[in-house]
Amino acid sequence: MIVFPLLCFLFSTISTLVCNETEKRALLSFKHALSDPGHRLSSWSIHKDCCGWNGVYCHNITSRVIQLDLMNPGSSNFSLGGKVSHALLQLEFLNYLDLSFNDFGGTPIPSFLGSMQSLTYLDLKYASFGGLIPPQLGNLSNLQYLSLGGAYSSYKPQLYVENLGWFSHLSSLEYLHMSEVDLQREVHWLESTSMLSSLSKLYLGACELDNMSPSLGYVNFTSLTVLSLPLNHFNHEMPNWLFNLPLNSLDLSSNHLTGQIPEYLGNLSSLTVLSLYGNRLNGTLPSSLWLLSNLVYLDIGNNSLEGTISEVHFDKLSKLKYIDMSSTSLIFKVKSNRVPAFQLEELWMSTCQIGPKFPTWIQTQTSLQCVDISKSGIVDIAPKWFWKWASHIDLLIDLSDNQISGNLSGVLLNNTYIDLRSNCFMGELPRLSPQVSRLNMANNSFSGPISPFLCQKLNGKSNLEILDMSTNNLSGELSHCWTYWQSLTRLNLGNNNLSGKIPDSMGSLFELEALHLHNNRLSGDIPPSLRNCKSLGLLDLGGNKLSGNLPSWMGERTTLTALRLRSNKLIGNIPPQICQLSSLIILDVANNSLSGTIPKCFNNFSLMATTGTEDDSFSVLEFYYDYYSYYNRYTGAPNYENLMLVIKGKESEYRSILKFVRSIDLSSNDLWGSIPTEISSLSGLESLNLSCNNLMGSIPEKMGSMKALESLDLSRNHLSGEIPQSMKNLSFLSHLNLSYNNFSGRIPSSTQLQSFDEISYIGNAELCGVPLTKNCTEDEDFQGIDVIDENEEGSEIPWFYIGMGLGFIVGFWGVCGALLFKKAWRHAYFQFLYRVKDWVYVAIAIRLNRLQNNLRVP
Ligand SMILES: *[C@@H]1O[C@H](CO)[C@@H](O)[C@H](O)[C@H]1NC(C)=O
Ligand SMILES: *[C@@H]1O[C@H](CO)[C@@H](O)[C@H](O)[C@H]1NC(C)=O
Ligand SMILES: *[C@@H]1O[C@H](CO)[C@@H](O)[C@H](O)[C@H]1NC(C)=O
Ligand SMILES: *[C@@H]1O[C@H](CO)[C@@H](O)[C@H](O)[C@H]1NC(C)=O
Ligand SMILES: *[C@@H]1O[C@H](CO)[C@@H](O)[C@H](O)[C@H]1NC(C)=O
Ligand SMILES: *[C@@H]1O[C@H](CO)[C@@H](O)[C@H](O)[C@H]1NC(C)=O
Ligand SMILES: *[C@@H]1O[C@H](CO)[C@@H](O)[C@H](O)[C@H]1NC(C)=O
Ligand SMILES: *[C@@H]1O[C@H](CO)[C@@H](O)[C@H](O)[C@H]1NC(C)=O
Ligand SMILES: *[C@@H]1O[C@H](CO)[C@@H](O)[C@H](O)[C@H]1NC(C)=O
Ligand SMILES: *[C@@H]1O[C@H](CO)[C@@H](O)[C@H](O)[C@H]1NC(C)=O
Ligand SMILES: *[C@@H]1O[C@H](CO)[C@@H](O)[C@H](O)[C@H]1NC(C)=O
Repeated sequence: MIVFPLLCFLFSTISTLVCNETEKRALLSFKHALSDPGHRLSSWSIHKDCCGWNGVYCHNITSRVIQLDLMNPGSSNFSLGGKVSHALLQLEFLNYLDLSFNDFGGTPIPSFLGSMQSLTYLDLKYASFGGLIPPQLGNLSNLQYLSLGGAYSSYKPQLYVENLGWFSHLSSLEYLHMSEVDLQREVHWLESTSMLSSLSKLYLGACELDNMSPSLGYVNFTSLTVLSLPLNHFNHEMPNWLFNLPLNSLDLSSNHLTGQIPEYLGNLSSLTVLSLYGNRLNGTLPSSLWLLSNLVYLDIGNNSLEGTISEVHFDKLSKLKYIDMSSTSLIFKVKSNRVPAFQLEELWMSTCQIGPKFPTWIQTQTSLQCVDISKSGIVDIAPKWFWKWASHIDLLIDLSDNQISGNLSGVLLNNTYIDLRSNCFMGELPRLSPQVSRLNMANNSFSGPISPFLCQKLNGKSNLEILDMSTNNLSGELSHCWTYWQSLTRLNLGNNNLSGKIPDSMGSLFELEALHLHNNRLSGDIPPSLRNCKSLGLLDLGGNKLSGNLPSWMGERTTLTALRLRSNKLIGNIPPQICQLSSLIILDVANNSLSGTIPKCFNNFSLMATTGTEDDSFSVLEFYYDYYSYYNRYTGAPNYENLMLVIKGKESEYRSILKFVRSIDLSSNDLWGSIPTEISSLSGLESLNLSCNNLMGSIPEKMGSMKALESLDLSRNHLSGEIPQSMKNLSFLSHLNLSYNNFSGRIPSSTQLQSFDEISYIGNAELCGVPLTKNCTEDEDFQGIDVIDENEEGSEIPWFYIGMGLGFIVGFWGVCGALLFKKAWRHAYFQFLYRVKDWVYVAIAIRLNRLQNNLRVP
């Protein structure tokens, strides 16, 4: 029988693979100290061989545990957390430990890791460790790969170091990634990192570094090939020592480097990646740049560079695949009959001067995936070949903000992201391939009925998410073909000539978050089917001829942040259900024929009762083109929803600051009854307009608690009584209109209430005091003082001083308010940067790895 020996053999082979009991127990106690909500360690069972557990790798002969790979590959739902147990120390032969992308909640990196002498690979990036990096890690003399980068912004104690002296023993280290670790306490970071004698790749992005020792002529980085220092604070010239590096990848983007790009850049002959994006480099490009024949990636965008570049400059740069010259003053001219030496994959030339002629040379580029030539001064007709050529660009084509013309009737658009906004395109709307995900054709001269476009036969299921065709001459009805476009999340057809009813089929846009149909000639009711758009956050139907009631089902769309129905023919009451919209920050139903009283429940608009702004629910108003391109480009700037709002008596467009606006406009209707006192609890409201109604009664006594109010218009009603003393507290108020009511008594004394023109108060026969010319009689004075005495213990004198104080504050705010506001912006911007940084890091890591692999010399 031959079977028995065979089985024996198999058995013996298997038994050698059974893991060590001690190590198994160590791993089980390691598991018990961890939290594992996603059950990633469910295979770690005492009844199974630990060498077969998920993420555990054993030596193929000794079967001792040598690798632990617990990187979180998925969403935060699969994060491990909790405590990293000492039990790991029992894994004597562990050489590879990866805990990256988990969430250890800001706890420190355990210092015992420094005793795991066999480690050659340690990856803790994006694992939300915080606090001081233990210098004990310096004992890991066998370590070749160390990645600690990626702080997590929501944990305060970001990872930091006191000094990097412990680097001196890491003599085997080849790869070091500490991006987003706070290194600002280590002034000698450059000396310390140059002690890493085997170092080949160094990533210190966003480390709060501010000095690269620009005057040093030489730094001992003998084997460094990748130097990545983006998002720091270097604000000096490019250092000389850079040009002695065997380097082949240099990333100094998003710093504040000044001066010119030095001529001796040409010494870096093996350079493949050069990124100087987002600095303050000025002057012309050094001629030696054009000798870097290995360059694949050239990013000099967003600098103050100037001068003219032609295709001749690129003659030696035949390997170039990526070029970014956007946001510079560079002029790029190519003779129409010349074929450049390169075949680009990405071309980013926004805001550099390419026009006025259309750049016909791009026809020679057949591998392009992204083309951005927006704002580049092109005043020309798009050539006939262009659209067919462009249909092979996979990802992005951005021609926006030029004066490119051409008839797009019959053209097929076939790119994922297309931006043709603000040009002179005309004719009927083009056709789309299912691949198109974002299409912006706003502000052109497209004409004709919209229905052939909406009802076109698509060659598959549409992926269109964002469609903006606002400000054209489109006409006709909205068609019944909306079921073809169910992936739409944002739709803007405002400022056209569309007519007819809003079709019921729009209710099939289940994903819709923003709908703009303003300034058309739409009529009929607001269709009940819209209640199916369960994610609707912004609805702008203003400036149409819509009739019927303000539907009460709108109260169910609790995601609504901005509701603009102004200038229609709506009738009936404001339904109290609308108060369920607790996310609402803009309510504009002005200039309709609404009647009845103002619901008493406006205090339920809880976001108007606060001034907080850092809330992700605003993603409906601010969103990102978060696309990866082949290398690492991300368009950066957020995209904003926009609304026309009347605030402080002026109609203007609100975009980037829209999410900070808190406004209620019920003006020019037939509302009656009194102003509900509940409205005064909206302490975050900035603009309240109730003018031109039939409101009666007095201003709520607590109006002064609406501390954020900047604009208040109650004019042309039948309001009466005195102006409440509390209104002195409205220290941000800069626009006030109480005219044409029946107010009486003295205007309360506070510098800002007196700072308005008489016109703010006129048409109130019984009102007196500054700024009106009518003097108060003693009676009226007496009344005034009475009120003060009732409300506050003390005399008029403290009030006077308080008034002065507030007056000062108002003056102060006049100058500095904008700065405060900017701070809010800054904060938002900073948060955004954080997102981008994460993003950019991941993107850069992925792209550069790929690039590195592609470039690896066999
Ligand atoms: C298992 O590991 C322990 C601790 O490292 C060691 O003392 C023991 O000899 C190992 N057992 C085997 C069978 O290798
Ligand atoms: C064990 O692993 C080493 C390297 O990890 C490899 O070279 C060797 O071929 C493997 N041996 C067996 C029997 O799989
Ligand atoms: C993560 O968990 C939340 C809540 O448990 C769930 O809503 C969400 O869909 C999950 N995400 C993924 C990617 O599994
Ligand atoms: C490790 O490093 C620390 C601090 O750098 C040092 O005090 C300690 O003696 C070193 N050795 C071990 C085995 O931890
Ligand atoms: C530079 O570093 C190498 C390797 O660590 C060393 O051999 C050499 O002496 C150093 N040179 C200088 C000038 O410090
Ligand atoms: C550039 O290279 C040349 C020739 O190899 C050398 O003479 C020169 O010193 C280098 N310049 C710098 C700044 O390193
Ligand atoms: C350009 O760089 C500056 C810093 O130098 C930065 O503030 C700005 O946001 C950058 N602009 C873009 C579009 O990236
Ligand atoms: C570049 O900027 C510096 C100031 O940072 C200025 O002194 C210099 O004149 C500028 N050079 C050119 C060519 O614009
Ligand atoms: C549309 O784009 C896809 C993917 O980029 C490509 O395969 C296809 O050939 C293109 N279609 C046309 C008609 O150009
Ligand atoms: C656009 O071209 C189509 C035919 O391709 C033609 O019928 C139409 O009149 C043109 N439109 C304009 C505005 O020139
Ligand atoms: C109002 O009073 C001031 C002084 O108190 C006086 O000069 C002024 O003439 C009076 N105006 C009117 C219209 O009575």
